[in-house]
Amino acid sequence: MAGSLPLHGRRVLLGVTGSIAAYKAADICSRLGKLGADVYVVMTPEALQFIGPATFRALTTHPVMVNLFEEPLTDRIAHIDLAQGCDLVLVAPATANVIAKMAMGIADDLLTTCLLAVPDSTPLLIAPAMNTAMWQHAATQTNMATIVSRGTECVSPGYGVLACKDVGYGKLADVDEIVTAVCARLNHVSDYKGIRVLITAGPTREPLDPVRYISNRSSGKMGYALAAEALRRGASVLLISGPTALVPPVGVEFVAVQTAEQMLAACLLHAGTCDVIVGAAAVADYRVEKASGTKMKRHEDESLSLRLIPNPDIIAALTATRSPRQFIAGFAAETDHVVENASRKLRSKGLDLVVSNDVSRTDAGFDVDTNEVTLHWPDGTIQELPLQSKLATAGAILSSIAAARSSISN
Ligand code: PMT
Repeated sequence: MAGSLPLHGRRVLLGVTGSIAAYKAADICSRLGKLGADVYVVMTPEALQFIGPATFRALTTHPVMVNLFEEPLTDRIAHIDLAQGCDLVLVAPATANVIAKMAMGIADDLLTTCLLAVPDSTPLLIAPAMNTAMWQHAATQTNMATIVSRGTECVSPGYGVLACKDVGYGKLADVDEIVTAVCARLNHVSDYKGIRVLITAGPTREPLDPVRYISNRSSGKMGYALAAEALRRGASVLLISGPTALVPPVGVEFVAVQTAEQMLAACLLHAGTCDVIVGAAAVADYRVEKASGTKMKRHEDESLSLRLIPNPDIIAALTATRSPRQFIAGFAAETDHVVENASRKLRSKGLDLVVSNDVSRTDAGFDVDTNEVTLHWPDGTIQELPLQSKLATAGAILSSIAAARSSISN
């Protein structure tokens, strides 16, 4: 039974630092243990202000280490043993301070000393948690870029109400997401290494005047999940996104756009360098023929007519100008006749794959964390995937694309 657990026999070093989110580390620790991992916890002295070591000792059945000079075995050096004896290191929550120390190579407590001794071949993940201003500060972003460039993987912080009551980015990522990232990293696949992937995400906004626009309910979650998953699997990822409340996964190349025309221009500019293109964006099909340069005034008893003209079909423009080696997938957001509509889009847009989702559901499609999609292939094959997180959906879509590309090239 234990042998069938996904993390059976894997040793994880969990670093807990001084953030109010430290209490969530207990949940992470418990979840990793239930998945079979043998978890060792190192806390910073500051973390002790938020949660006691007894919690982690009970969850892991191992002593919890805090002090650099506390050597339980006289013939061993604890920080070297801890750093070099594990399969993965996770720092969750990671404060701005520990990120800065990692970037600078400062080792002034047991955790940061361990982090400096982690071999390059051991995956190192961090899940930052801090106030929005601290996360967005140039120093933190520069430090993040430094450690990511050295191979550290970041489970990006989320958006929400923070402990200080501010609303913004900086909230520790969901425990689910952190645990999934650990599982994914330990069962590592790098089938996208050397492959450049372009993903479109989010809605487009088509202005009516300087203050109003036409848009749709896309949150960007599906496209950003694809970007994060492709990056994790070794791809070089370009994410072209309409306006969303999401933080682009650390490590992707990011182009922000507003309108369909801007998204088309960005896609045409970059598509030539990409091997795989996935159109997950909900592009507005129409825009106002002539947007007003000034705010439109309200007139009592007068109706307002807007003349809408079609936007360019971005994914069709990309298939029309594609190179033979490119694989191009689109999505189909449907509310009815899902299979017929998806098959029509597959043919009319010249796609290699259409991923359909029923956007009339409350647990799939727009603005939720889960999706249930069907893959439609040019030979008529239809593959239904289960309802699962958008990250897991992204993983399954990318696996199918990788398999299709390798069968074409063989
Ligand atoms: O962002 P989320 O909240 O996570 O929601 C995810 C999603 C529902 C947006 C996503 O799963 C999805 O279905 N994306 C495609 C939405 C859409 O616009 O579908 P469509 O059936 O209208 O378009 C078909 C394909 O053509 C899509 O790949 C679309 O990106 C593309 N298209 C559409 C119109 C247009 N002018 N240009 C395009 O490239």
